[in-house]
Amino acid sequence: MGYEVLTAFFLEAGFLGIMLFGRKRVGDKLHFFATLMVALGTLVSATWIISANSWMQTPAGYSIAENGQYVPEDWWAIIFNPSFPYRLVHTVLAAFLTTAFAVGAVGANHLLADRTNRQARIMFSMAMWMAALVTPLQIVAGDAHGLNTLEHQPAKIAAMEGHYETQKGAPLILFGIPNDQTDTTDYAIEIPKLGSLILTHDPDGEIKGLKEWAKEDRPPALIPFITFRVMVGLGFLMLGLGLWSLWLRWRGRLYDNVWLHRAAILMGPSGFVAVLAGWYTTEVGRQPYTIYGLLRTSDSLSNVDAPAVGASLIAFIIVYFVVFGAGVFYLLRLMRRTPQTDDHELEKAPNRAAGITPGPAQSSKVEPNNGH
Ligand code: HEM
Repeated sequence: MGYEVLTAFFLEAGFLGIMLFGRKRVGDKLHFFATLMVALGTLVSATWIISANSWMQTPAGYSIAENGQYVPEDWWAIIFNPSFPYRLVHTVLAAFLTTAFAVGAVGANHLLADRTNRQARIMFSMAMWMAALVTPLQIVAGDAHGLNTLEHQPAKIAAMEGHYETQKGAPLILFGIPNDQTDTTDYAIEIPKLGSLILTHDPDGEIKGLKEWAKEDRPPALIPFITFRVMVGLGFLMLGLGLWSLWLRWRGRLYDNVWLHRAAILMGPSGFVAVLAGWYTTEVGRQPYTIYGLLRTSDSLSNVDAPAVGASLIAFIIVYFVVFGAGVFYLLRLMRRTPQTDDHELEKAPNRAAGITPGPAQSSKVEPNNGH
């Protein structure tokens, strides 16, 4: 976390103000540079945070001293612990997709009002390229991530899949209600052998069920089971929208199809929901451990009185509510404003700007069917 603050947080924090509020105050190049620095800072930040989280999922490169303290032994093994590369790729792609679907929804909303708006077209087009190209990558990355989890945290996979019994040729349970009391997944709708095929690449491969572990060593199954399906379901909806947009782009109708635009608006929050669902899967699936296999969550409690914990929790809630609320309010205002060429660009290049400013006089300059 120290590395994160030193290498990334200052970079992001320093340039964020210029990015959000400086568009008209600094030149285009500095504004673009500030935007790149925010993106880079966020990426570096994600790297360190994911490394720390991954170490708690798949600890490596440490020893335990006599007094029970963890002692770092191998810096590289700690940072590049076994689940880190998978988690980093999956999380960063998730962030790209979340952004793309939010931007796509805003662009689509403005296109519904005026399909000739050039800025809205650029927003929508870039977002749909991201959806079409990055979603398949995310699905492949998610699959590889799952195989890595199977190797290091098989109980988490058993919970995500709703499997209590160890089976050869295990089915893929599409829907059902895992019940930790009876050790069964009730009302299961399943496809035979597909579970084994996906996880072991062999239709008769063996998959361990939760009963392999003592009850006190297993994660609760219901939450990872549901959140995993929400995440994967949204992933496939994202793929559907991306492919649909590709098809319409190819037909030259990307900016004309109101149904695509409505669907893109509906999918606007999908990335945020998928990310939360993914983290619930990961973190509830890690239970009952804080450091997987080594430190139980029940043993991780600090020796702090309940009122102190309550007070800091309330402080967090208030501060987050204010800061987050202000951020959301500002972003919603930005999203609602019809995108158009900024005044300072108009001053710099009046002719070009006039050609791309939306409005009845200029709309004939924009080709309605240009799909690129
Ligand atoms: C559609 C196919 C997908 C598959 C097969 C998949 C697979 C997985 C798996 C197996 C995990 C848990 C790994 C672990 O805890 O060890 C996970 C977590 C996660 N997923 Fe997905 N995922 C998919 C789609 C998505 C999408 C579309 C998003 C977001 C846009 C997303 C975001 C996340 C996040 C943020 C996490 C938690 C961080 C992590 O452990 O990587 N996933 N995913």
